[in-house]
Amino acid sequence: MSERPPAPEPLAPKPRASPPQAEPVTHIDDERFRVTEWRFAPGAETGWHRHGHDYVIVPLTDGVLGLDLAGGGRTEAALTRGLPYSRRVGVEHNVTNAGTAPLSFLEVEVVDNARDEARLATMARLMDCFNARDLDGLMGCMSADPAFHGAAGPGAEGVIHQGQAAVRAAYAALFAAFPDAAWLEGAHHITGETGLSTWRFRGTSAAGARVDVRGCDIFSFDGALIAVKDSYRKARG
Ligand code: NI
Repeated sequence: MSERPPAPEPLAPKPRASPPQAEPVTHIDDERFRVTEWRFAPGAETGWHRHGHDYVIVPLTDGVLGLDLAGGGRTEAALTRGLPYSRRVGVEHNVTNAGTAPLSFLEVEVVDNARDEARLATMARLMDCFNARDLDGLMGCMSADPAFHGAAGPGAEGVIHQGQAAVRAAYAALFAAFPDAAWLEGAHHITGETGLSTWRFRGTSAAGARVDVRGCDIFSFDGALIAVKDSYRKARG
């Protein structure tokens, strides 16, 4: 009589002790930088995280990092004390001390990217709102006490519109003066505290004059909102 071997017992999942957590110590946390020292006991991990900023890692010890990667997969990377490396925003992983000794590194994050990105988004939204003739949207891009310096006017600054009501009226007047106004070929840049949008303005005045010239806005900001929109336009002639 033949006997079938007994079916293997299903393996009960081993209760897995949660690994120790890496310990973050914040050294700098200001408008421009966040510097965090990460201390790992052997086997300790950061837990899953996505990097919201560009960053530089400066190893304070030699060691081996285990990296669980988004989308599966695992890799290891050797750390050399004092030998830094940089990564771009968006890296997603869980980082483990894969060695047998304590390990630590400094993480230097450039956090003012976030401020610049918010300001660039405001500049792009402003141009979209101009093209959509969306006055509420436009004013939503402006700070509590904004100024708009027009391209033309009596003084060196052009005409100055100061305050929410005046700026709103000036934007409305622009739409009335150029009912078909379009801001094309928009490009947006930030340098330090200053924003620059370049564009090509095309429109027909109420009197029938065609305008098609390049120009730009120089912006200053209050947080992510525009405090001053200083406009320049080429004059054909
Ligand atoms: Ni990380």
